Amino acid sequence: MTDGPACARGGKKGGCSMNAKVNAAKAALEYVKDGMCIGLGSGSTTREFIKLLGERVRKGLKVTCVTTSFDSRMLAIESGIFVTETDAIDEIDLAVDGADKVTKTALLKGGGGALTREKIIGYNAKRFIIIVDESKVQEGVLEGEVNLEVLPFAAPLVMRHLKEYNPRIRMAKAKLGPVISDNGSFIIDCDMRLDEPKKMEEWLKSMPGIVENGIFTRFDIIIVGNDKGHRIL
Ligand code: A5P
Repeated sequence: MTDGPACARGGKKGGCSMNAKVNAAKAALEYVKDGMCIGLGSGSTTREFIKLLGERVRKGLKVTCVTTSFDSRMLAIESGIFVTETDAIDEIDLAVDGADKVTKTALLKGGGGALTREKIIGYNAKRFIIIVDESKVQEGVLEGEVNLEVLPFAAPLVMRHLKEYNPRIRMAKAKLGPVISDNGSFIIDCDMRLDEPKKMEEWLKSMPGIVENGIFTRFDIIIVGNDKGHRIL
């Protein structure tokens, strides 16, 4: 997630600007209706969506939200949004989330380590909207860092299976040792070229010890924000 903080500070890095993220978030807000249950993704683009949603809630919009990370949960609560847990809702009407790389048919997610809850919420929503800026759009074959959430006990065995993909345990920056996900797992990052993303998603999912992988092949709309507005991919 190297671009996130620079963009979050309002700077411009790798073609991404804060305006583009805000414009994508604004476009996603158009899909929100009173009374909805909304799944909130994670990451700097989704943070813009949460802030805008909070503004609408303060003006009287009534929504219930479930979140995909402690980060989003904390921001949502701070923004005055009613947040609950998955056992207290019937269905998720809409989920809104960012992505690290997108093509029309597949995404890579998990730069922030929240991929498992993101997939659970996104795949269970009636409508799953992805919000990105132009720097995330890839032409042709989806290629890049594939993030995996893996049980610590299984990590050495999983890495052995994936050695051709240069697997590495993500290390923490403000703590000793590995990053520990919101679910208590390790995050393993690999480099992959995904000629068949769906097949790879399923293969990784079938490997014991991998809780979830960051290849997403089920979503409804990709909104790409830019400095002036947005487009649908
Ligand atoms: C979190 O684990 C990720 O899947 C994020 O959704 C993704 O990294 C996009 O984040 P940004 O909006 O900060 O780029």
